[in-house]
Amino acid sequence: MSDQKKNVLSCIQPTGDIHLGNYLGAIKNWVDLQEDYNCTYGVVDYHSMTMPYKAKNLRENTWKMALQLLACGIQPENLFIQSLIPEHSELCWILGNLCSFGRLNLMTQFKDKTSQLKESDKDAFVSGGLFYYPVLQAADILIYHADFVPIGKDQVQHLELSRDIAQRFNHQFDKEYFTHPEPLFTKNTKILSLANPAKKMSKSLGEKHYVNIFGDEARIRKQVKSAVTDTGESEGISPGVQNLFDLLLASGKIDDHTSLMNDFNNDALRYSDLKNAVAEGLVVLCKPMKERYDEINFNKKEFKNRIKDSSSDIRKSAKKTLREVKEIVGILNPKD
Ligand code: TYM
Repeated sequence: MSDQKKNVLSCIQPTGDIHLGNYLGAIKNWVDLQEDYNCTYGVVDYHSMTMPYKAKNLRENTWKMALQLLACGIQPENLFIQSLIPEHSELCWILGNLCSFGRLNLMTQFKDKTSQLKESDKDAFVSGGLFYYPVLQAADILIYHADFVPIGKDQVQHLELSRDIAQRFNHQFDKEYFTHPEPLFTKNTKILSLANPAKKMSKSLGEKHYVNIFGDEARIRKQVKSAVTDTGESEGISPGVQNLFDLLLASGKIDDHTSLMNDFNNDALRYSDLKNAVAEGLVVLCKPMKERYDEINFNKKEFKNRIKDSSSDIRKSAKKTLREVKEIVGILNPKD
């Protein structure tokens, strides 16, 4: 039966902590999809080398992210660490030759991250790795013949590139080899920063912009309390207030959502009531994951070993794809 299931693949960078944007935009979906699909999820440490980083932190954050994913409900057998499957980077090299420089040059993430680097230092070092980043992402996706990729809206352009690469590959080598992966979205495709609702929630903006779902209760409450609401919009609901309503709904507080929305429509909403309800909802949402994370950390060694084992199991299908791809593109396999 399980062979008939469609393949789902998605990945996350080991940035340190899973924030609410990651969780509501993607990971919650990853967890739910495990019932009905063949799911493969990765912690992509090679991607995190593309921006300035410290070697020691990267290794620690890679494990931390993997263990946090387990605490969110990802099954260990579905989880891999990218660097433990070197076939991803080998396929990346091959796929890079099926993607034009001009196409890569259109990627907005490269432009955004370059300007982020240059903001703090106009002579900042911008790596070739950052430019090549989306090709490695295409390799992550195509190597498992993913049918579906659960992501937030910020990753859509990268997924389109993966589809284009798959199409070019199939066309150039005259073989329907790679599938064309489709995105899967949650209801919360873009969670906004609490401190600046003009931007998406992201760790790279700094501490006050994101909610760490494993953070302590007092911190979560404090962050929600200081969330920016109105930013002077003249009409309708402001992005900051809409974001708080979205978070309320996502945390399952449906009755509160209805009654506070009623207040809003009657010009009777007190932002403090909205913030209290959101903070309460988020604390309740995060609590079980935080407790599970504490348990996992207690048996850290055992869980790390399970992830190493699952990475080596998952590697078998990556090896098969790479062998077939080399055959198709004219590169030697060991037995040739
Ligand atoms: P990353 O690590 O930035 O984010 C992981 C997932 O979280 C989603 N996300 C959000 N969703 C809604 N609102 C937000 N504020 C928000 N912030 C993050 C992202 O869309 C993503 O789904 N390039 C990828 C990692 C990657 C990947 C892949 C993803 C590498 N290879 C293959 C899918 C398939 C990234 O940096 O995601």
